[in-house]
Amino acid sequence: MKTVLITGCSSGFGLETARYFLDRDWNVVATMRTPSYDHLPRSDRLRVIALDVTDPDSIWQAIESAGPIDVLVNNAGIGLLGALEGTSMDSARVIFETNTLGTIAMTQAVLPQFRQRKAGVVVNVTSAVTLLPLPLLSVYRASKAAVNAFTESLALELEQFNVRVNLVLPGRAPETRFGENARPHMDGAIPEAYAEMAQGVFAAWGEQTAVTRAVDVAEAVWRAANDPSSPLRLCAGADAVAMAEAN
Ligand SMILES: NC(=O)c1ccc[n+]([C@@H]2O[C@H](COP(=O)([O-])OP(=O)(O)OC[C@H]3O[C@@H](n4cnc5c(N)ncnc54)[C@H](OP(=O)(O)O)[C@@H]3O)[C@@H](O)[C@H]2O)c1
Repeated sequence: MKTVLITGCSSGFGLETARYFLDRDWNVVATMRTPSYDHLPRSDRLRVIALDVTDPDSIWQAIESAGPIDVLVNNAGIGLLGALEGTSMDSARVIFETNTLGTIAMTQAVLPQFRQRKAGVVVNVTSAVTLLPLPLLSVYRASKAAVNAFTESLALELEQFNVRVNLVLPGRAPETRFGENARPHMDGAIPEAYAEMAQGVFAAWGEQTAVTRAVDVAEAVWRAANDPSSPLRLCAGADAVAMAEAN
């Protein structure tokens, strides 16, 4: 029986992906900053472990207590919507520490076991917004585009060890806690000079009917984990697929 370790399982895509793999008989190590079994089904194949991807000690302890794993899903992430002029460097650092460096650190932590076993898959959840230049997302897009580039290079480096590295690019998913969790980093993020443009952006989103469901992301992660012939980039959600086609 295979084991998947997923980061950021307290809500949204991570929680849904944990449920999806549990339903399909995998062992699941669901990690979260504040561990809780509350929203997960009871199962002897489930373990919930504390993990903050920005904290090296927390990473080390989580990898130690997880034991051998077959698949790592780097899902934990924070959004940030705002004009660069309204974005504090503290917020920009938190976004990069979590989305970019957190993914790099987690990947580095599992590679020795994957390389030694000549088996393993890393799935990095980035975003379909990296496919198109969009306003008010400069810092967030940069944090995720960096992971795309990281993943593409690493895939070539690890091919010789039979270790795969994949990307899942979700579209916009209003059902998760993403918007709510981004808010603390967005104080003053739309200065007056950008207000009119921001209204246009929000109005365009309001008209958008195609969205991404959490289960679309879980399915894409499942495919990346199980199908060695899956492409390096998998778009998840109807809007993400449309963005890829428009690109
Ligand atoms: N929803 C969207 O529209 C969308 C679109 C494209 C891509 N994405 C990406 O998809 C991923 C999941 O997002 P989501 O929509 O499911 O949002 P979500 O509901 O806010 O879930 C994000 C998860 O990341 C966790 N997290 C944040 N900082 C962390 C840290 N330092 N260490 C460990 N975990 C941390 C959160 O945990 P806490 O509860 O502890 O905060 C939460 O469990 C993110 O990488 C996001 O960038 C989302």
